[in-house]
Order: sequence, then C-alpha cells, then structure tokens
Amino acid sequence: MFKRYLITSALPYANGPVHIGHLAGVYVPADIYVRYLRLRKRDVLFIGGSDEHGVPITIKARQENVTPQDVVDKYHNIIKKSFEEFGISFDVYSRTTSKVHYETASGFFRKLYDNNQFIEKTTEQFYDEEVKQFLADRYITGTCPVCSNENAYGDQCEKCGSSLNATDLVNPRSTLSGSVPVLRETKHWFLPLDQYEGFLRKWILEDNTDWKANVYGQCKSWLDQGLQPRAVSRDLDWGIPVPVDGATGKVLYVWFDAPIGYISATKELTPDWEKYWKDKESKLVHFIGKDNIVFHCIIFPAMLKAEGTYILPDNVPANEFLNLEGDKISTSRNWAVWLHEYLEDFKGKEDVLRYVLCANMPETKDNDFTWKDFQTRNNSELVAIFGNFVNRALVLTQKYFGGKVPSSAAATAQDLEVLKEIDSIKKNIEDSLENFRFREALKEAMNLARLGNKYLADTEPWKIFKDQPEKVAAILNISLQISANLAILMEPFLPFTSAKLKAMLNLPEINWDNTGSNPLLSEGHQMNEPALLFEKIEDTTIEAQLNKLAEQKKLNEAKNAKAEPQKSNVSYDDFSKMDIRIGTILEAVKVPKTAKLMQLKVDTGIDTRTIVSGIAEFFTPEDLIGKQVTVLVNLEPRAIKGIQSQGMLLLAEDKLGKLILAGPQQSTDNGSVVR
Ligand code: MF3
Ligand code: ZN
Repeated sequence: MFKRYLITSALPYANGPVHIGHLAGVYVPADIYVRYLRLRKRDVLFIGGSDEHGVPITIKARQENVTPQDVVDKYHNIIKKSFEEFGISFDVYSRTTSKVHYETASGFFRKLYDNNQFIEKTTEQFYDEEVKQFLADRYITGTCPVCSNENAYGDQCEKCGSSLNATDLVNPRSTLSGSVPVLRETKHWFLPLDQYEGFLRKWILEDNTDWKANVYGQCKSWLDQGLQPRAVSRDLDWGIPVPVDGATGKVLYVWFDAPIGYISATKELTPDWEKYWKDKESKLVHFIGKDNIVFHCIIFPAMLKAEGTYILPDNVPANEFLNLEGDKISTSRNWAVWLHEYLEDFKGKEDVLRYVLCANMPETKDNDFTWKDFQTRNNSELVAIFGNFVNRALVLTQKYFGGKVPSSAAATAQDLEVLKEIDSIKKNIEDSLENFRFREALKEAMNLARLGNKYLADTEPWKIFKDQPEKVAAILNISLQISANLAILMEPFLPFTSAKLKAMLNLPEINWDNTGSNPLLSEGHQMNEPALLFEKIEDTTIEAQLNKLAEQKKLNEAKNAKAEPQKSNVSYDDFSKMDIRIGTILEAVKVPKTAKLMQLKVDTGIDTRTIVSGIAEFFTPEDLIGKQVTVLVNLEPRAIKGIQSQGMLLLAEDKLGKLILAGPQQSTDNGSVVR
C-alpha cells in the first residue's frame, strides 16, 4: 500500500463559470475518492486551482472588452465559490497567476532548458499585420478543407469535428482584424516527445495495463501514431514569459504551465510538498476529462521524466463527457446547467445533484443528464429509499422509546443476518472506490438503504409494538445501526446529508474502519429530533428548468437561422412611389386595452401627425420619445382601434421577431427623404 496520496483535479479555465459537466467528469469523482481516503485515515492531499493562462482567457477578455487579469479574477472567484458550495473538499484551490506558480513554472522550464532538454526550431506561423501579432489557432477562421464549413477554426472544425492545422484552412482570416494573415518566421522551444516514445510505450502500455480502458485506448492510439516534438512556447501577450534571453513576447504554452500548477499549489499548501511529489511511496492520481488525456498521460509525464526528480501518476481515471438533454454541453451556445444557477434554484439540494451526477457519471462512455431523470432519482431513490428508511427508523424510535437507542436483546438469527450484510456491502463499496468505479460504489451504498427499507417493510414494527415491544426494540436497534453506517458510508457521496444524519443520530466520531456489523450505537444512547433528509421535487420545478432550456434552444436556432429569402423584384417606378422620410417621435402612449399598439405623434418635417404602430411589446414610451425614425408617410391613412393612423413606422425585425428602431445613424433634419 502507498504511504500517501496526492490527488489532483484538472484546473478549469477561468474563462467562464463551471457547469454540471465539470462536476460529473472531474470534481465529484475526485471528491468522493478523497473523502473516502480521508475516512480511511490515509495521508492525502487534494489539489485544485484555476487555469488562468492561454488563449481561452484572451478570447474571453476580448469578448467582454476587459483585460485578461479582469477575466481570471472574476471567474476564479465564481468557480471557487461554486466548488465550495458543492462540498468539493480541496485542501488548496490555487491559481496559475500566483507568484509561487510563476516561479515554479519558470524554474521548471529553465531546468529543462539548461539541461538541453528542448530543441529550438524556427517555423512559419500566421501573423496579423494589422494588429501586429502572431495568431493562435483559435484566432484564425477559414473554410474547412474537409466539409467546406466557412467558420472552421485554425485547430478544429466544429461542424465535422476534423482536427486541423491553421495552414489547412481555405481563405484563412484573422478574427482580430478580419484581415488575411501572412506566414512569418518565429522561433520556439520544443519538447522532443519522439525521444520519450520508448519510455512512454513501456510505462503506459506495459506497466499501466490497469488504467481505465478509455484512457489506455486513447494513449495507445496516440503512441501508435508516433509522437512529434511539441512546442512549449507561444507568441502571446498573456502568460508566463519564457525565462531565457531573446524570448521577448514569448510565453510558456498553457499546457506546459498549467499541470505544473499542481506542483505550485502543493507548494503553497505545505512545506512538505516534496514528500508528495518525489517519494516513490506517494501515489499520484489525476482526475480529468477525456479531452485532457494526452496532456496528463503523455506530455506532462514526459516533462516530469525530463526534469527527473518527480514521480509519475499511478493512475489517470479520466471520464468521458456528460451531455445535457441529448445535446453536447456548450459554453458558447449556453447549453449547460451552470453550478451558480443551480445553487440559486436548488438551495440546500447540493447533494441531490452530486447524487445524480455520480449515478450517471460518464465513466466508460458519454452519458446524458436529463431533468426528468434528476427528478426521478430524487423522488424514487433519495426520498423513497434512503430518506424514507432513515425517517421511519428515527421517528419510530422517537415515538416508542423517546429517541433512545432500544435494546437488541430480542434479536433473532434472522435479524442479525441483516446486520451481517453491512459487512459485504461495505467491502463492495471499498473495492469499487479503490478501482474508480464510482457509479457501482454509489449503487452499493444505496443497497444499504434498500436493505434497511426492506427490513422495515418485512418486519412492520409499527404493527406489533403493542404485543411485542422487545421485538420492536431489536428491529429498531438494527435499523439504527444501519442508519449510522449509512451516515459514514454515504459521506463521500453525500457529505451534507451525512452531516445532517450524524447530527440527528447524535453520532460520536466514527471512522470508516469501525463501520460494519459491529454496533455503532449503544443501548440507551440519546438521539436528536429527526427531520427529513430529502424532499420531493415537484413537476413544476422540473418544467421551469425545461422551459429555460427550451428558450435557449429557440435562441440558438434563431442565431443559426438564415436571413429571410429575397422577395421578387420591383420596378424603380414602383419603388419611387413610396415617400419615406425621417421624423422625430414627439409623444408616445400605449393604446388602452391593446397589447401591441402604441399611439405616436411624429414630426415628419411636413407636419406633425398621428401614427399607430404595433411596437408596444418592445418599447416603453421613454424608449421612443425624442428618437428619429424612418416613416412611410404616404401610406393610405386608416383607422386602427378608432384612431386615424397617418403613415407607418419602419423597423427592423430580427431572427427572434424582436423589433429594432431603424432611424438615421446621425441626427438629421426631419423630413429628409430616404431613397
Ligand atoms: N484548463 C484545462 C481544461 O479545462 C485543464 C488543465 S489541467 C492542468 O481543459 F493540468 F493543466 F492543469
Ligand atoms: Zn469541417
């Protein structure tokens, strides 16, 4: 057995909040594992932090018109808070803009550089002459050579999924200026991964055959394709400067610095950090999502090997992806359940989400989160099985024995059999957790609640109390022992529920190793008032979430929709019959008893006239008064709701049917002719 454990979880990019995909893929399994190890009194550190460099951050900064530092400050705090509230029990949650990290990452690079572990190469990269900047792949778009999608990125086409080189794109354009980028020479440092191929093949394919099939398979396929030297620096103005002479304007590649962040965070946490990183008796485990496999199984180990003093990961239990309602989770399409929003909508139900995400964890293949399933798992598992069992045991004990643990003296061999089953369930949970099979582990833990529930249903103590109080005492004693075991064995999965249950049981400090069939609660032990552990989630709550997603889907579809097709041609003569003018809205009032109509007084330059317009859903009178608009002044007057309307306001209607005022770009004379 290992002396100590170092558990890392992927550092999320601080370019947006975190969602259920992050939790299910990385942080829930990592937290379950760590909590389990702690309960078993193993020496363990749980490392987390924000990944604050790289192109994703600079893109976000550009979108939000702020500095990269502003972006990472904002999202680091949002992410950190979400994790805290979901009980992700990091020993440290750091960030890669910290001083310690700058020093650690620079030092790491410098050591490899000094030991001639890099090769220097000059290559041609796209350069934007207008903004005077080399372009990261994500800053280049063009036509995909595979599927002709016109908006493929320099590294990937999101339409057909092809992975691309920027130079593969047909008609490349810079997203910074829109200009056509040119190729320009630039020097970079490369880690010669090809030289590590032999070592990696042996280490992964021979020594680590116990890795998860999805991880092992991906590694094998990378290795079989052959490894190429990989650039570890970039031309970018956000990141850790390359710490050598003649490297102005160059920073460490984000995938070089970020995993070193695990080391920096450990340094921040404890002066004893080297014990965890350098002693062969430490077990290093990286929890990540599948898009991170190559970086954690091939590139980072090659870096560690090159450095020479570090241990390598013992396991990398990467998960596949979680989808949402049958569709890929996507930040850009806002197709996600954001943790900070869940925490607002479902306050106090953090464990419910932890439970559902663990039960559906994408362990071996992509999996789907649906709100219906969320409701069902809550109502028919957490409420109906776990909550129901514990509640019956505690309420009956309260009622018959004043909340004191009754005597088990009358227990029969059959009753004791039930108690014995705890041992085998516990063993199954341990085996599953030690092997990163979290769904199975949770199922086993729920089997303990199922066992208790069935036991009460079979023995029906509420029916026999009058005639056989000693028998009821024994049944409840056993039920309470099961409840106490649940409080401990469920802790890794449902920490908040476990705390509540421990408080109700008034449970003394018990560690994992004491759980099992030996009684945890002694006769006469006084418990506290019971309360419900879970509550039913109603259809209306689920519908509200589904409606929110449906709205988002509509929005996304509209964004992708093409502009309306062109109408058939008209003659110039026909067009010139229209008299279109610029006018100023002087007054605006909603037409009473209508939803859409607004009565306007407009100065058309010719006169001041009344126009009735169907725009009241989109504008308040204050939005309109004083605005210059475009008016068709010679439209046949007509009565609308009894008001004479003399002309028509011209507005733009967007893809979602929203109206936008169409007036002149600069203020001009009323009466100006539009032609
Ligand atoms: N930020 C990366 C992502 O979200 C993960 C970085 S993990 C680390 O995919 F090891 F590099 F820190
Ligand atoms: Zn394509």
